[in-house]
Formats: sequence, structure tokens, C-alpha cells
Amino acid sequence: MNNKVYWLIGGIIVIIGIVLVSRWTTREAQRNNPPADGQVIRTSPASEENIGVLFTRSDVATHNSATSCYAIVSGTVYDLTSWIGKHPGGPEKIIPLCGTDATAAFSKQHGSSTKATTTLASLLIGSLSQ
Ligand code: HEM
Repeated sequence: MNNKVYWLIGGIIVIIGIVLVSRWTTREAQRNNPPADGQVIRTSPASEENIGVLFTRSDVATHNSATSCYAIVSGTVYDLTSWIGKHPGGPEKIIPLCGTDATAAFSKQHGSSTKATTTLASLLIGSLSQ
């Protein structure tokens, strides 16, 4: 083998070395900087950031149609408008909930369903102010 081949192999080994070291240092940096107490790591939908937006019951009551459909479930306000046409149980189950407190209807039907709870979380727009 001539010198060029040795240089080429050497170069490849050096590049692989640099990649491995930089990956290791990044991982170490993440390990040494855990989130501060109280800092939230968000794995849930960004809509959870709306939790501080406040609505009164009368605000919610004005969104009582299929074209603008808000509902309250357990003190939290959801915009169900985009979900009406996608609901596997049919739109007719959602439309009567528009503008109302749907806590009882939701928990009766879906109280133990993780999927329904996750869907609801993705539609969160705020909380009840009273
Ligand atoms: C208030 C908001 C609601 C949300 C976000 C919601 C969400 C969902 C979701 C995600 C599914 C699919 C479940 C799965 O695939 O495992 C589903 C199915 C269904 N929902 Fe709802 N739902 C709501 C309200 C209701 C209400 C009030 C009723 C009845 C009065 C109802 C009746 C049904 C039925 C019959 C099904 C199909 C069978 C089943 O998967 O349980 N839903 N819903």
C-alpha cells in the first residue's frame, strides 16, 4: 500500500473519532444539566400552554354552534369545532355539547378512555375563570 492509502485511512479514523467525541460530549452536557425544579418538559400538545387563558361560563355559552363550539370539561375549556366532523361517535354527539358544561356527558361516555382524554387535551383553549 502506498502512503496515500495510509493517509486516507488515517483521515477516516480521525473523522469518526471527532464525530464520536462530539456525540459523547453533547450527551454528557444534557446529563449534567437536568431541568431545574418546576421546569416542565413538554411532551404534551402545545395547547396545554393555554391553561392560563380565562373564560367565563357566559363566554363559553356564546360558542354554541357547530361553526364555533366551545365546551367545558372539569373546569377546563375546549374548542371542539375542528373535532365535530372527526368524532368517531358521530357529530351528533358533540354538537349538543357546544356552549355547555360537558363534564357529565364526557365522563359518562369516555371517563376511562385515554384516547378521548388525549384528544380533548389537544383542543384545550383555557380555563374557567370562576
Ligand atoms: C366532549 C368531547 C369528546 C371527545 C374529545 C371525544 C373523543 C372521542 C374519541 C377520541 C373517540 C375514539 C376512541 C377510540 O378510538 O378509542 C370517541 C369515540 C366515541 N365517542 Fe366520543 N368524544 C367526546 C364526547 C362524546 C360524547 C358526549 C358521546 C356520547 C354521548 C360520545 C360517544 C362516542 C362513541 C359512541 C364513540 C365510538 C365508540 C368508542 O370508541 O367509544 N363521545 N370519542
